[in-house]
Amino acid sequence: MTEFTRSRKNLSAMPATPATIKHVEALRTKLREHDYRYYVLAQPAIADEEYDRLMRELTELEVKYPELASTDSPTQRVGGQPTKEFATVSHAVPMLSLSNTYSEEELQDFDRRVRSLLGKEPFRYVCELKFDGAAVSLVYREGVIVRGATRGDGVQGDDITQNLKTIRSIPLRVFGKKKGLTDFEVRGEVYMEREDFRRMNEERELAGEKTFINPRNSAAGTLKLQDSKVVATRPLRFMAYYLRAERFKLQSHFDNLKLLRGLGFPVSTQARLCRSIGEVTAYWKAWEERREELPYDIDGVVVKVDLLRQQERLGSIAKSPRWAIAFKFAARKATTTLKGITLQVGRVGTITPVAELEPVFVGGSTVSRATLHNEDYIRDLDIRTGDTVVVEKGGDVIPKVSAVLAERREAGSKRFVMPKTCPVCSSKIFRPPEEANYYCENSECPAQVKGRIEHFAHRGAMDIEGLGEAIVDQLVGLGLVQNYTDLYKLAGKKKQLLELDRWGEKSVENLLNAIEESKKKPFARVLFAMGIRHVGAGVARLVVSRFTSIDQLMEAPKEELEQVQGIGPRIAESIERFFSESHNRKIVQKLREAKVQLEEKQKKGGNNASLAGKTFVLTGTLAGFSREEARQKIEAMGGKVTSSVSKKTDYVVVGEEAGSKLEKARELGVQTLDEKAFVRLVQ
Ligand code: IVH
Repeated sequence: MTEFTRSRKNLSAMPATPATIKHVEALRTKLREHDYRYYVLAQPAIADEEYDRLMRELTELEVKYPELASTDSPTQRVGGQPTKEFATVSHAVPMLSLSNTYSEEELQDFDRRVRSLLGKEPFRYVCELKFDGAAVSLVYREGVIVRGATRGDGVQGDDITQNLKTIRSIPLRVFGKKKGLTDFEVRGEVYMEREDFRRMNEERELAGEKTFINPRNSAAGTLKLQDSKVVATRPLRFMAYYLRAERFKLQSHFDNLKLLRGLGFPVSTQARLCRSIGEVTAYWKAWEERREELPYDIDGVVVKVDLLRQQERLGSIAKSPRWAIAFKFAARKATTTLKGITLQVGRVGTITPVAELEPVFVGGSTVSRATLHNEDYIRDLDIRTGDTVVVEKGGDVIPKVSAVLAERREAGSKRFVMPKTCPVCSSKIFRPPEEANYYCENSECPAQVKGRIEHFAHRGAMDIEGLGEAIVDQLVGLGLVQNYTDLYKLAGKKKQLLELDRWGEKSVENLLNAIEESKKKPFARVLFAMGIRHVGAGVARLVVSRFTSIDQLMEAPKEELEQVQGIGPRIAESIERFFSESHNRKIVQKLREAKVQLEEKQKKGGNNASLAGKTFVLTGTLAGFSREEARQKIEAMGGKVTSSVSKKTDYVVVGEEAGSKLEKARELGVQTLDEKAFVRLVQ
């Protein structure tokens, strides 16, 4: 572990005993097994807390005994500094693409070609789903992942090893072992499940970040990020569909899929061996109808000749093999008339223009409304009421207007002009500079009431257990709650709560307790829960590191907010705007009356006091934290931060451009930690 600088004083520290080494290996094996159960099999065997505990124990041991570090340790999924660009790598065997077909006739042509080229030899096809994501290649040496790359142009791709290592279903070290199969390449698709995608977009919307268009784009886009820490927060998954091995004889593609499964890779259970092209067509038809049952998007099926020997005989033309073909599902498009454009208000006030359509049958159902995304989208395509438009059903099933047939436009049509007010509450709507969306800023707008309460109660916010969508619906529907501050008045309405459908003494009590408990949540959580545009959980923590009470924050002009590292003009403006609204100030007042935490208390010890009694000095600039944040982390774990290095200092945390304090630490033989080592210690 090169980043962990040991000082002279610690050279004499005890090396790991054989028992410790064994224990570290056992922890790693356990964690690998739990990762496999959780991420590949989706059958977790232990509680999250237990998993976290094992991970923490391993991290602490690796910090204590740097000589035990290993790149395939389960602690090493996220790491490294953000990069500026990716290195280019060459694929040992080109990553070909598939030729596509949409029709049964073309599929039969393919089958005839295969049969004639193979002569009289019997053969079988493997049918698989065609996952709609991004293709990647993973190279393993001695069972350990050494490189991960994008497809690129098929010959050369980008080295995205760091990013791929964050995907928990990709084994860093292969799990089950097959004798002799240690050096190989796996290819497959990185993708996102629709539900994960939806949730991620919802969170992004809540945090005021740009939302993604569809799961495929966000999977492909995420792989290209230079900061693997960000990649680690995105819900990427992997599905393996190809294996190439050195010094190990492989024979059949279908068997390869089984081998991959045995090595611990996620492999679809939907692959089938087919004896005739008729069976292939039946497979395709079945999935065309059932594709919505899958949690992820597919855009067709892939048909491959099973035996590798026969694949070789068939060879490839240009960029695609002759032994495989993609049999795609028909595009789900139709044309219809746009009757009008209305506005829809989202759960946190985002305004989306919606196309009101002459009903049309597309991809299995009748569509009468479709999204138009935002003002710019309508302007760029010049979509006008009365136009004949193309409606497309994307993988996420939300239909969209994707084009205008301008030649069919009738004379006298008018360009769309964005209305000035919210269609639900009539307050003025607002488009922040450099954003595509308009927002209704009235947090008491009926369209937002439920969404804001759900956000407030969300796990990452006030964490009010039991206050899910259905309950919020009931409470708002009956007028018991009009905004999230009303939750704190429910304690006085116990009688009415007990009269609610399916509510008993116990459930009412649990809910009221959870609401009461939420008053203890720290100020940063409260700030996040308030639902200020662009203030996600991370930003809220940054804000609180500088403004320790709501009063300070409400008075702060945006210039002062921008002084906080990590807060730019967009966030600063949004915060200033939020607190300038009188109804938002009233909300603050009500939270205050409810005795919710509106200032940051100096934490002592906390649950995890593993740094109790330790003294730290911070020097230089850390990439991932402000000084203040680093200090808070240390203090939260019972440690102390002082400003100058002395013999009593336990650790000096060294950032970029550290100066005299680092020298002093070396002089006195005080242990130094670089950022990575520090992160591991406080995580
Ligand atoms: S096999 C020569 N199998 O489709 C073999 N590809 O145009 C090529 N894809 O880039 C890959 N699901 O991203 C294969 N079950 C599957 C697939 C699949 C999706 C994608 C892959 C590739 C593209 C081929």
